[in-house]
Amino acid sequence: MDKIVIEGSYPLRGEIRISGAKNSAIKLMAVPLLTDRPVTLTNMPRLRDTRSMGGLLEHLGLSVEQDGDSTLKLHAPDLAGTEAPYDLVRKMRASFNVLGPILAREGQARVSLPGGCAIGARPVDLHLKALEALGAKIELEQGYVIASAKGGLKGAEISFPFVSVGATEHAMLAAVLAKGETVLMNAAREPEIVDLADCLNAMGAKITGAGRSEVRIEGVASLSGTTHSVVPDRIEAGTYALAAATAGGSVRLTNVRHDHLGALWPLIAQAGARVSLDDDSVLIERGTGRPNPVDIDTSAYPGFPTDLQAQFMALVGLADGTSIIRENIFENRFMHCPELIRMGADITVRGREAIVRGVPEYVGAPVMATDLRASASLVNAGLAARGETHISRVYHLDRGFEHIEVKLGNCGAHIRRMPDEEG
Ligand code: EPZ
Repeated sequence: MDKIVIEGSYPLRGEIRISGAKNSAIKLMAVPLLTDRPVTLTNMPRLRDTRSMGGLLEHLGLSVEQDGDSTLKLHAPDLAGTEAPYDLVRKMRASFNVLGPILAREGQARVSLPGGCAIGARPVDLHLKALEALGAKIELEQGYVIASAKGGLKGAEISFPFVSVGATEHAMLAAVLAKGETVLMNAAREPEIVDLADCLNAMGAKITGAGRSEVRIEGVASLSGTTHSVVPDRIEAGTYALAAATAGGSVRLTNVRHDHLGALWPLIAQAGARVSLDDDSVLIERGTGRPNPVDIDTSAYPGFPTDLQAQFMALVGLADGTSIIRENIFENRFMHCPELIRMGADITVRGREAIVRGVPEYVGAPVMATDLRASASLVNAGLAARGETHISRVYHLDRGFEHIEVKLGNCGAHIRRMPDEEG
Protein backbone atom coordinates (compact mmCIF):
# COMPACT_ATOMS: atom_id res chain seq x y z
CA MET A 1 0.00 0.00 0.00
CA ASP A 2 1.22 3.54 -0.73
CA LYS A 3 1.47 6.59 1.44
CA ILE A 4 1.72 10.28 0.60
CA VAL A 5 4.53 12.27 2.14
CA ILE A 6 4.30 16.06 2.21
CA GLU A 7 6.94 18.49 3.36
CA GLY A 8 4.82 21.49 4.24
CA SER A 9 5.09 25.28 4.44
CA TYR A 10 5.65 25.89 0.73
CA PRO A 11 3.06 28.20 -0.84
CA LEU A 12 1.33 26.86 -3.96
CA ARG A 13 1.89 28.67 -7.25
CA GLY A 14 0.63 27.48 -10.60
CA GLU A 15 -2.31 26.11 -12.50
CA ILE A 16 -4.45 23.00 -11.96
CA ARG A 17 -6.78 21.57 -14.58
CA ILE A 18 -9.90 20.13 -12.96
CA SER A 19 -10.97 16.65 -14.09
CA GLY A 20 -14.45 15.33 -14.81
CA ALA A 21 -16.61 14.79 -11.73
CA LYS A 22 -16.29 11.41 -10.06
CA ASN A 23 -19.81 11.55 -8.67
CA SER A 24 -21.23 12.26 -12.10
CA ALA A 25 -19.00 9.85 -14.00
CA ILE A 26 -19.91 6.77 -11.96
CA LYS A 27 -23.66 7.40 -12.43
CA LEU A 28 -23.22 8.18 -16.14
CA MET A 29 -21.45 4.84 -16.48
CA ALA A 30 -24.77 3.14 -15.58
CA VAL A 31 -26.53 4.84 -18.53
CA PRO A 32 -25.38 2.38 -21.26
CA LEU A 33 -27.25 -0.35 -19.37
CA LEU A 34 -30.42 1.31 -20.70
CA THR A 35 -29.64 1.02 -24.41
CA ASP A 36 -28.19 -1.37 -26.99
CA ARG A 37 -26.41 1.57 -28.65
CA PRO A 38 -22.86 2.73 -27.79
CA VAL A 39 -22.34 5.50 -25.23
CA THR A 40 -19.07 7.44 -25.16
CA LEU A 41 -18.10 9.49 -22.14
CA THR A 42 -15.44 12.17 -22.54
CA ASN A 43 -13.70 14.24 -19.82
CA MET A 44 -13.76 11.04 -17.75
CA PRO A 45 -11.56 11.04 -14.65
CA ARG A 46 -9.34 7.95 -14.21
CA LEU A 47 -10.01 6.86 -10.66
CA ARG A 48 -10.29 3.76 -8.54
CA ASP A 49 -14.07 4.27 -8.37
CA THR A 50 -14.48 4.49 -12.16
CA ARG A 51 -12.34 1.33 -12.49
CA SER A 52 -14.55 -0.45 -9.93
CA MET A 53 -17.66 0.56 -11.84
CA GLY A 54 -16.01 -0.59 -15.11
CA GLY A 55 -15.38 -4.00 -13.51
CA LEU A 56 -19.04 -4.33 -12.54
CA LEU A 57 -20.21 -3.30 -16.03
CA GLU A 58 -17.90 -5.87 -17.63
CA HIS A 59 -19.38 -8.49 -15.32
CA LEU A 60 -22.82 -7.48 -16.65
CA GLY A 61 -21.62 -8.02 -20.22
CA LEU A 62 -20.75 -4.49 -21.35
CA SER A 63 -17.71 -3.73 -23.42
CA VAL A 64 -15.71 -1.08 -21.56
CA GLU A 65 -12.98 0.46 -23.67
CA GLN A 66 -10.62 3.20 -22.51
CA ASP A 67 -9.70 5.43 -25.45
CA GLY A 68 -6.78 7.73 -24.63
CA ASP A 69 -6.62 9.39 -21.24
CA SER A 70 -10.15 10.64 -20.70
CA THR A 71 -12.55 8.89 -23.07
CA LEU A 72 -14.48 5.76 -22.17
CA LYS A 73 -16.54 3.81 -24.69
CA LEU A 74 -19.32 1.66 -23.27
CA HIS A 75 -21.60 -0.67 -25.18
CA ALA A 76 -24.14 -3.27 -24.17
CA PRO A 77 -25.89 -4.85 -27.21
CA ASP A 78 -27.09 -7.50 -24.72
CA LEU A 79 -26.63 -7.96 -21.01
CA ALA A 80 -24.78 -11.09 -19.91
CA GLY A 81 -26.73 -11.25 -16.65
CA THR A 82 -28.88 -9.31 -14.23
CA GLU A 83 -26.90 -9.83 -11.05
CA ALA A 84 -24.48 -7.41 -9.35
CA PRO A 85 -22.66 -9.47 -6.72
CA TYR A 86 -21.56 -8.31 -3.27
CA ASP A 87 -17.85 -8.49 -4.12
CA LEU A 88 -18.29 -5.85 -6.83
CA VAL A 89 -20.93 -3.62 -5.17
CA ARG A 90 -19.14 -3.39 -1.81
CA LYS A 91 -16.16 -1.67 -3.42
CA MET A 92 -18.28 1.38 -4.14
CA ARG A 93 -21.78 2.24 -2.89
CA ALA A 94 -22.81 4.10 -6.05
CA SER A 95 -22.64 0.87 -8.05
CA PHE A 96 -25.95 -0.02 -6.35
CA ASN A 97 -27.49 2.39 -8.89
CA VAL A 98 -27.22 -0.31 -11.59
CA LEU A 99 -30.32 -1.89 -10.03
CA GLY A 100 -32.83 0.50 -11.65
CA PRO A 101 -31.36 0.38 -15.17
CA ILE A 102 -31.03 -3.44 -15.17
CA LEU A 103 -34.61 -3.70 -13.94
CA ALA A 104 -35.85 -1.21 -16.55
CA ARG A 105 -34.13 -3.12 -19.36
CA GLU A 106 -34.59 -6.75 -18.33
CA GLY A 107 -37.64 -6.68 -16.02
CA GLN A 108 -35.61 -8.23 -13.21
CA ALA A 109 -32.42 -7.67 -11.24
CA ARG A 110 -30.54 -9.08 -8.27
CA VAL A 111 -28.16 -6.57 -6.73
CA SER A 112 -26.25 -6.75 -3.48
CA LEU A 113 -27.16 -4.22 -0.79
CA PRO A 114 -24.22 -1.84 -0.43
CA GLY A 115 -24.01 -1.78 3.39
CA GLY A 116 -22.81 1.11 5.55
CA CYS A 117 -19.54 2.94 5.27
CA ALA A 118 -17.20 4.99 7.41
CA ILE A 119 -19.18 8.26 7.18
CA GLY A 120 -22.51 6.77 8.28
CA ALA A 121 -25.11 4.03 7.91
CA ARG A 122 -26.20 5.28 4.48
CA PRO A 123 -29.36 3.23 3.93
CA VAL A 124 -30.99 2.77 0.51
CA ASP A 125 -34.63 2.78 1.63
CA LEU A 126 -35.50 5.81 -0.53
CA HIS A 127 -34.04 4.10 -3.60
CA LEU A 128 -36.17 1.00 -2.98
CA LYS A 129 -39.34 2.98 -2.26
CA ALA A 130 -38.90 4.89 -5.52
CA LEU A 131 -38.51 1.63 -7.48
CA GLU A 132 -41.58 0.18 -5.74
CA ALA A 133 -43.58 3.29 -6.63
CA LEU A 134 -42.58 2.64 -10.26
CA GLY A 135 -44.17 -0.81 -9.99
CA ALA A 136 -41.23 -3.00 -9.03
CA LYS A 137 -41.71 -5.91 -6.67
CA ILE A 138 -38.84 -5.82 -4.19
CA GLU A 139 -37.66 -8.60 -1.91
CA LEU A 140 -34.62 -8.67 0.32
CA GLU A 141 -32.84 -11.98 0.62
CA GLN A 142 -29.46 -12.72 2.16
CA GLY A 143 -28.11 -9.23 1.61
CA TYR A 144 -29.44 -8.97 -1.92
CA VAL A 145 -32.27 -6.92 -3.41
CA ILE A 146 -34.32 -9.05 -5.77
CA ALA A 147 -36.45 -6.83 -7.97
CA SER A 148 -38.89 -7.68 -10.70
CA ALA A 149 -41.28 -5.75 -12.93
CA LYS A 150 -42.84 -8.28 -15.25
CA GLY A 151 -44.97 -5.88 -17.29
CA GLY A 152 -42.27 -3.16 -17.20
CA LEU A 153 -42.01 -0.12 -14.92
CA LYS A 154 -44.83 2.44 -14.83
CA GLY A 155 -44.59 6.19 -14.26
CA ALA A 156 -45.55 7.42 -10.79
CA GLU A 157 -45.49 10.40 -8.46
CA ILE A 158 -42.62 10.04 -6.01
CA SER A 159 -42.23 12.48 -3.16
CA PHE A 160 -38.94 12.12 -1.27
CA PRO A 161 -39.23 12.78 2.49
CA PHE A 162 -35.77 14.40 2.39
CA VAL A 163 -33.29 15.18 -0.33
CA SER A 164 -31.15 12.29 -1.56
CA VAL A 165 -28.74 12.61 -4.47
CA GLY A 166 -28.45 8.87 -5.05
CA ALA A 167 -32.19 8.16 -4.81
CA THR A 168 -33.03 11.03 -7.20
CA GLU A 169 -30.52 9.72 -9.74
CA HIS A 170 -31.67 6.15 -9.28
CA ALA A 171 -35.34 7.05 -9.78
CA MET A 172 -34.44 9.02 -12.88
CA LEU A 173 -32.42 6.13 -14.36
CA ALA A 174 -35.31 3.73 -13.77
CA ALA A 175 -38.11 6.05 -14.94
CA VAL A 176 -36.72 7.04 -18.36
CA LEU A 177 -37.95 3.77 -19.89
CA ALA A 178 -41.14 3.48 -17.77
CA LYS A 179 -44.59 3.75 -19.32
CA GLY A 180 -46.12 7.17 -18.72
CA GLU A 181 -45.02 10.15 -16.67
CA THR A 182 -42.98 10.16 -13.47
CA VAL A 183 -42.85 13.20 -11.21
CA LEU A 184 -40.07 13.41 -8.61
CA MET A 185 -40.84 15.84 -5.79
CA ASN A 186 -38.27 17.16 -3.33
CA ALA A 187 -35.61 15.92 -5.76
CA ALA A 188 -31.93 16.68 -5.21
CA ARG A 189 -30.67 19.60 -7.30
CA GLU A 190 -26.95 18.82 -7.53
CA PRO A 191 -25.12 19.61 -10.82
CA GLU A 192 -24.42 15.88 -11.20
CA ILE A 193 -28.18 15.32 -11.54
CA VAL A 194 -28.39 17.90 -14.31
CA ASP A 195 -25.42 16.20 -16.00
CA LEU A 196 -27.18 12.83 -15.88
CA ALA A 197 -30.40 14.33 -17.28
CA ASP A 198 -28.47 16.10 -20.08
CA CYS A 199 -26.85 12.81 -21.10
CA LEU A 200 -30.16 10.91 -21.02
CA ASN A 201 -31.99 13.67 -22.92
CA ALA A 202 -29.31 13.59 -25.65
CA MET A 203 -30.22 9.89 -26.02
CA GLY A 204 -33.90 10.68 -26.50
CA ALA A 205 -35.17 10.72 -22.90
CA LYS A 206 -37.72 13.35 -21.95
CA ILE A 207 -36.65 14.81 -18.62
CA THR A 208 -37.54 18.34 -17.59
CA GLY A 209 -36.77 20.22 -14.40
CA ALA A 210 -33.45 18.56 -13.50
CA GLY A 211 -31.65 20.93 -11.14
CA ARG A 212 -34.97 21.98 -9.60
CA SER A 213 -36.85 20.20 -6.85
CA GLU A 214 -39.58 18.92 -9.16
CA VAL A 215 -38.38 16.73 -12.01
CA ARG A 216 -40.71 15.34 -14.69
CA ILE A 217 -39.82 12.30 -16.76
CA GLU A 218 -41.99 11.25 -19.69
CA GLY A 219 -41.08 7.60 -20.33
CA VAL A 220 -39.83 6.62 -23.81
CA ALA A 221 -39.75 3.18 -25.48
CA SER A 222 -35.99 3.17 -26.18
CA LEU A 223 -32.86 5.29 -25.99
CA SER A 224 -30.21 5.87 -28.66
CA GLY A 225 -26.45 6.19 -28.07
CA THR A 226 -24.57 9.43 -27.47
CA THR A 227 -21.25 11.09 -26.73
CA HIS A 228 -21.32 13.08 -23.51
CA SER A 229 -18.69 15.19 -21.73
CA VAL A 230 -18.66 14.69 -17.93
CA VAL A 231 -19.24 17.92 -15.97
CA PRO A 232 -16.10 19.29 -14.22
CA ASP A 233 -15.64 18.06 -10.65
CA ARG A 234 -16.82 20.82 -8.27
CA ILE A 235 -15.46 18.97 -5.23
CA GLU A 236 -12.01 18.55 -6.75
CA ALA A 237 -12.06 22.27 -7.66
CA GLY A 238 -13.18 23.24 -4.15
CA THR A 239 -10.50 21.03 -2.60
CA TYR A 240 -7.67 22.69 -4.55
CA ALA A 241 -9.12 26.16 -3.96
CA LEU A 242 -9.05 25.37 -0.25
CA ALA A 243 -5.53 23.94 -0.59
CA ALA A 244 -4.35 27.30 -1.96
CA ALA A 245 -6.22 29.18 0.76
CA THR A 246 -4.74 26.92 3.47
CA ALA A 247 -1.12 26.74 2.26
CA GLY A 248 -1.09 30.28 0.80
CA GLY A 249 0.13 31.28 -2.66
CA SER A 250 -1.68 31.78 -5.92
CA VAL A 251 -3.37 28.99 -7.88
CA ARG A 252 -5.46 29.19 -11.02
CA LEU A 253 -7.98 26.39 -11.48
CA THR A 254 -9.04 25.74 -15.06
CA ASN A 255 -11.90 23.70 -16.59
CA VAL A 256 -14.10 24.80 -13.65
CA ARG A 257 -17.84 25.46 -13.46
CA HIS A 258 -17.52 28.09 -10.71
CA ASP A 259 -21.29 28.60 -10.68
CA HIS A 260 -21.44 25.09 -9.12
CA LEU A 261 -19.56 26.35 -6.07
CA GLY A 262 -21.59 29.45 -5.29
CA ALA A 263 -21.73 28.54 -1.59
CA LEU A 264 -17.95 28.19 -1.30
CA TRP A 265 -16.47 31.36 -2.82
CA PRO A 266 -17.91 33.92 -0.35
CA LEU A 267 -16.77 31.76 2.56
CA ILE A 268 -13.21 31.39 1.23
CA ALA A 269 -13.17 35.17 0.76
CA GLN A 270 -14.47 35.65 4.31
CA ALA A 271 -11.59 33.46 5.50
CA GLY A 272 -9.19 35.94 3.90
CA ALA A 273 -8.31 34.58 0.44
CA ARG A 274 -8.87 36.53 -2.76
CA VAL A 275 -11.17 34.79 -5.24
CA SER A 276 -11.33 35.96 -8.87
CA LEU A 277 -13.88 34.22 -11.07
CA ASP A 278 -13.34 34.10 -14.83
CA ASP A 279 -15.24 32.29 -17.61
CA ASP A 280 -14.16 28.75 -16.83
CA SER A 281 -11.34 29.44 -14.41
CA VAL A 282 -10.86 30.67 -10.85
CA LEU A 283 -7.83 32.34 -9.29
CA ILE A 284 -7.28 31.85 -5.56
CA GLU A 285 -4.68 33.97 -3.78
CA ARG A 286 -3.73 34.21 -0.15
CA GLY A 287 -0.71 35.97 1.33
CA THR A 288 0.81 35.58 4.75
CA GLY A 289 -1.11 36.07 7.99
CA ARG A 290 -3.67 33.78 9.54
CA PRO A 291 -7.10 33.13 8.00
CA ASN A 292 -10.24 34.53 9.63
CA PRO A 293 -12.61 32.17 11.45
CA VAL A 294 -15.73 31.20 9.46
CA ASP A 295 -18.74 29.12 10.54
CA ILE A 296 -20.19 26.63 8.08
CA ASP A 297 -23.31 24.52 7.91
CA THR A 298 -23.45 21.73 5.33
CA SER A 299 -26.64 21.18 3.34
CA ALA A 300 -27.90 19.82 0.04
CA TYR A 301 -27.09 21.79 -3.13
CA PRO A 302 -27.01 24.76 -3.54
CA GLY A 303 -25.89 24.86 0.11
CA PHE A 304 -22.37 24.23 1.38
CA PRO A 305 -21.35 20.69 0.25
CA THR A 306 -20.65 18.05 2.88
CA ASP A 307 -17.89 16.84 0.55
CA LEU A 308 -15.90 20.04 1.27
CA GLN A 309 -16.55 20.20 5.02
CA ALA A 310 -13.31 18.42 6.03
CA GLN A 311 -11.17 20.54 3.69
CA PHE A 312 -12.77 23.75 4.99
CA MET A 313 -12.02 22.64 8.53
CA ALA A 314 -8.33 22.28 7.64
CA LEU A 315 -8.39 25.94 6.54
CA VAL A 316 -10.16 27.45 9.56
CA GLY A 317 -8.14 25.21 11.89
CA LEU A 318 -5.40 27.82 11.33
CA ALA A 319 -7.69 30.83 11.83
CA ASP A 320 -7.19 33.60 14.31
CA GLY A 321 -10.36 32.74 16.25
CA THR A 322 -12.99 30.02 16.66
CA SER A 323 -15.23 28.53 13.94
CA ILE A 324 -18.26 26.30 14.33
CA ILE A 325 -18.70 23.62 11.68
CA ARG A 326 -22.00 21.83 11.51
CA GLU A 327 -22.44 18.62 9.49
CA ASN A 328 -26.08 18.09 8.57
CA ILE A 329 -25.90 15.37 5.87
CA PHE A 330 -23.98 12.45 7.38
CA GLU A 331 -23.98 11.43 11.03
CA ASN A 332 -20.33 10.42 11.27
CA ARG A 333 -18.32 12.72 9.09
CA PHE A 334 -15.78 14.11 11.53
CA MET A 335 -13.20 11.32 11.34
CA HIS A 336 -10.62 13.80 10.10
CA CYS A 337 -10.79 15.63 13.46
CA PRO A 338 -8.60 13.24 15.50
CA GLU A 339 -6.07 13.22 12.66
CA LEU A 340 -6.01 17.04 12.41
CA ILE A 341 -5.61 17.12 16.19
CA ARG A 342 -2.51 14.92 15.79
CA MET A 343 -1.14 17.73 13.63
CA GLY A 344 -1.78 20.30 16.36
CA ALA A 345 -5.36 21.40 15.63
CA ASP A 346 -7.65 22.29 18.55
CA ILE A 347 -11.06 20.76 17.77
CA THR A 348 -13.91 19.55 19.98
CA VAL A 349 -16.66 17.48 18.39
CA ARG A 350 -20.13 17.61 19.99
CA GLY A 351 -22.60 15.52 18.04
CA ARG A 352 -23.09 17.16 14.67
CA GLU A 353 -20.95 20.18 15.55
CA ALA A 354 -17.21 20.72 15.60
CA ILE A 355 -15.80 23.66 17.52
CA VAL A 356 -12.56 24.59 15.82
CA ARG A 357 -10.30 26.91 17.82
CA GLY A 358 -7.68 28.16 15.39
CA VAL A 359 -4.02 27.43 16.10
CA PRO A 360 -1.06 29.38 14.67
CA GLU A 361 0.40 26.36 12.85
CA TYR A 362 0.08 22.67 12.10
CA VAL A 363 3.02 20.38 12.71
CA GLY A 364 3.67 17.45 10.36
CA ALA A 365 2.77 14.02 11.78
CA PRO A 366 1.95 10.49 10.67
CA VAL A 367 -1.81 10.45 10.02
CA MET A 368 -4.29 8.03 8.55
CA ALA A 369 -6.76 8.62 5.73
CA THR A 370 -10.22 7.40 6.79
CA ASP A 371 -12.39 8.33 3.82
CA LEU A 372 -11.99 10.18 0.58
CA ARG A 373 -12.69 13.78 1.59
CA ALA A 374 -11.15 13.38 5.06
CA SER A 375 -7.93 12.35 3.30
CA ALA A 376 -8.05 15.50 1.18
CA SER A 377 -8.27 17.64 4.31
CA LEU A 378 -5.14 15.94 5.67
CA VAL A 379 -3.32 16.69 2.41
CA ASN A 380 -4.34 20.38 2.65
CA ALA A 381 -3.26 20.54 6.30
CA GLY A 382 0.03 18.81 5.40
CA LEU A 383 0.73 21.44 2.71
CA ALA A 384 0.55 24.17 5.36
CA ALA A 385 2.25 22.25 8.19
CA ARG A 386 5.74 22.73 9.50
CA GLY A 387 7.72 19.55 8.80
CA GLU A 388 6.72 16.27 7.20
CA THR A 389 3.28 14.71 7.14
CA HIS A 390 2.90 11.03 6.23
CA ILE A 391 -0.62 10.08 5.13
CA SER A 392 -1.23 6.35 5.04
CA ARG A 393 -4.10 4.42 3.39
CA VAL A 394 -3.89 6.52 0.28
CA TYR A 395 -6.29 4.26 -1.60
CA HIS A 396 -9.07 6.48 -0.22
CA LEU A 397 -7.62 9.45 -2.11
CA ASP A 398 -7.19 7.40 -5.27
CA ARG A 399 -10.94 6.71 -5.26
CA GLY A 400 -11.69 10.33 -6.10
CA PHE A 401 -8.66 12.49 -6.94
CA GLU A 402 -6.90 12.01 -10.26
CA HIS A 403 -3.09 12.42 -10.02
CA ILE A 404 -3.31 14.47 -6.82
CA GLU A 405 0.43 14.45 -6.15
CA VAL A 406 1.18 15.46 -9.76
CA LYS A 407 -1.36 18.29 -9.79
CA LEU A 408 -0.15 19.71 -6.46
CA GLY A 409 3.51 18.97 -7.29
CA ASN A 410 3.18 21.12 -10.43
CA CYS A 411 2.22 24.01 -8.15
CA GLY A 412 5.38 23.69 -6.09
CA ALA A 413 4.08 21.38 -3.35
CA HIS A 414 6.73 19.06 -1.93
CA ILE A 415 4.59 15.96 -2.16
CA ARG A 416 5.48 12.41 -3.12
CA ARG A 417 3.95 8.97 -3.11
CA MET A 418 5.94 6.10 -1.72
CA PRO A 419 5.39 2.53 -0.54
CA ASP A 420 4.10 2.37 3.04
CA GLU A 421 6.01 -0.41 4.80
CA GLU A 422 3.61 -0.31 7.74
CA GLY A 423 0.44 -0.05 5.62
C1 EPZ B 1 -23.81 11.40 -2.78
O1 EPZ B 1 -24.00 10.32 -1.90
C2 EPZ B 1 -22.33 11.49 -3.04
N1 EPZ B 1 -21.85 10.23 -3.58
C3 EPZ B 1 -21.60 11.79 -1.73
O2 EPZ B 1 -20.23 11.95 -2.00
C4 EPZ B 1 -22.15 13.10 -1.17
O3 EPZ B 1 -21.54 13.35 0.08
C5 EPZ B 1 -23.66 12.98 -0.98
O4 EPZ B 1 -24.29 12.61 -2.25
C6 EPZ B 1 -24.31 14.27 -0.51
O5 EPZ B 1 -24.02 15.30 -1.41
C7 EPZ B 1 -21.98 9.97 -4.87
O6 EPZ B 1 -22.53 10.75 -5.62
C8 EPZ B 1 -21.41 8.70 -5.35
P1 EPZ B 1 -27.56 11.06 -0.34
P2 EPZ B 1 -25.44 9.68 -1.67
O7 EPZ B 1 -28.42 9.96 -0.81
O8 EPZ B 1 -26.20 9.77 -2.94
C9 EPZ B 1 -29.54 9.46 3.72
C10 EPZ B 1 -17.92 11.45 -1.81
O9 EPZ B 1 -17.05 11.64 -0.92
N2 EPZ B 1 -30.24 8.44 2.90
O10 EPZ B 1 -27.84 12.45 -0.84
O11 EPZ B 1 -25.26 8.37 -1.03
C11 EPZ B 1 -28.03 9.26 3.75
O12 EPZ B 1 -27.65 8.29 4.69
C12 EPZ B 1 -19.31 10.97 -1.44
O13 EPZ B 1 -17.70 11.61 -3.01
C13 EPZ B 1 -31.20 7.63 3.48
O14 EPZ B 1 -31.46 7.72 4.68
O15 EPZ B 1 -26.02 10.73 -0.61
C14 EPZ B 1 -27.55 10.66 4.06
O16 EPZ B 1 -27.61 10.89 5.43
C15 EPZ B 1 -19.46 10.66 0.01
N3 EPZ B 1 -31.85 6.72 2.69
C16 EPZ B 1 -28.57 11.56 3.36
O17 EPZ B 1 -29.70 10.72 3.11
C17 EPZ B 1 -31.60 6.61 1.36
O18 EPZ B 1 -32.23 5.75 0.70
C18 EPZ B 1 -28.12 12.12 2.01
O19 EPZ B 1 -27.55 11.08 1.24
C19 EPZ B 1 -30.64 7.45 0.78
C20 EPZ B 1 -29.97 8.37 1.55
